[in-house]
Amino acid sequence: MNQTDQYILGIETSCDETAAAIVKNGREIVANVVASQIESHKRFGGVVPEIASRHHVEQLTIVFEEAMNQAKLGFEDLSAIAVTEGPGLVGALLTGVNAAKALAFAHDLPLIGVHHIAGHIYANRLIAELEFPLLALVVSGGHTELVYMKEHGSFEVIGETLDDAAGEAYDKVARTLGLPYPGGPHIDRLAHEGEPTIDLPRAWLEEGSFDFSFSGLKSAVINTLHNAKQKGIQLEAKDIAASFQASVIDVLVTKTSQAVDRYKVKQLLLAGGVAANKGLRTALEKEFSTREGLQLIIPPLSLCTDNAAMIAAAGSILYEKGKRSDFALNANPGLELTSY
Ligand code: KG4
Ligand code: ZN
Repeated sequence: MNQTDQYILGIETSCDETAAAIVKNGREIVANVVASQIESHKRFGGVVPEIASRHHVEQLTIVFEEAMNQAKLGFEDLSAIAVTEGPGLVGALLTGVNAAKALAFAHDLPLIGVHHIAGHIYANRLIAELEFPLLALVVSGGHTELVYMKEHGSFEVIGETLDDAAGEAYDKVARTLGLPYPGGPHIDRLAHEGEPTIDLPRAWLEEGSFDFSFSGLKSAVINTLHNAKQKGIQLEAKDIAASFQASVIDVLVTKTSQAVDRYKVKQLLLAGGVAANKGLRTALEKEFSTREGLQLIIPPLSLCTDNAAMIAAAGSILYEKGKRSDFALNANPGLELTSY
């Protein structure tokens, strides 16, 4: 081991994945362990915060010990501990923050609080070195944002959803169609079997706006189903899924394309759970992979959904900038994405 190598232990518990990972020099995954709770929440049709917190408490020690074992490292080898401080479910966040504080205190290691979305964006640095200026399309269960970065640790949200996040819309439409939680992957699969035959709205908002809105689309799907039922018409779930997905992708890709042109970025990054969507990945590749001077980075599925390697990667930049949290670090469910 090189004395100057930096090893950061990342911890992520903001929603329904208990995760720990170790990242070397901000770019190389040494260990990445994720314990998903999806099975426990499925029967309730969504994440139950109290159950999420309890699972995190049960899983955290197992998960971080597994990460340390995989990495074959001791605490003396670590440079710092990075943990998601927000946004997310307050009880869930608290379990990770308290575990990180305890470990940092016991092993006399620096503690670094990380924004969950900064983590999603930095998952891309585990794939390729970031080049600035860049644009990140962040699409998750809780967020839909276009983030402009002029340098490491600098985040400017140039557009965001005014109501539902893309993933939230996927989950709600899936629920209406009687599909299990989380609905995103099920709609994605069905969409590929169906045809976008149903005309659904696209919320472009005002000219030049990079903001998004998905609640009207969600209501349009519900109304379409309701009207068809009243008229005794049987609509195919796969065609609804295909039409819904076509509308979401159309808006995401078009607005991203306009932002890429406006901000003249060198890279376009994809981040968040909805980045696992096959239709979206294909549409982005088609639109951007041949654009001159632009590199499109799409992380593998395992780095798109919640994980701790992304938290360690984002924490690495804070560490290099000398930013540290103290033991007053608290869970912050509404934490804003601000520059480091
Ligand atoms: O980033 P993430 O793991 O958690 C949050 O920070 O929110 O994102 C979870 C979201 C869920 O809404 C889930 O339905 C959605 O990502 N998702 C998908 C797909 N896989 C996961 N949405 C559409 N297509 C998918 N293949
Ligand atoms: Zn997430």
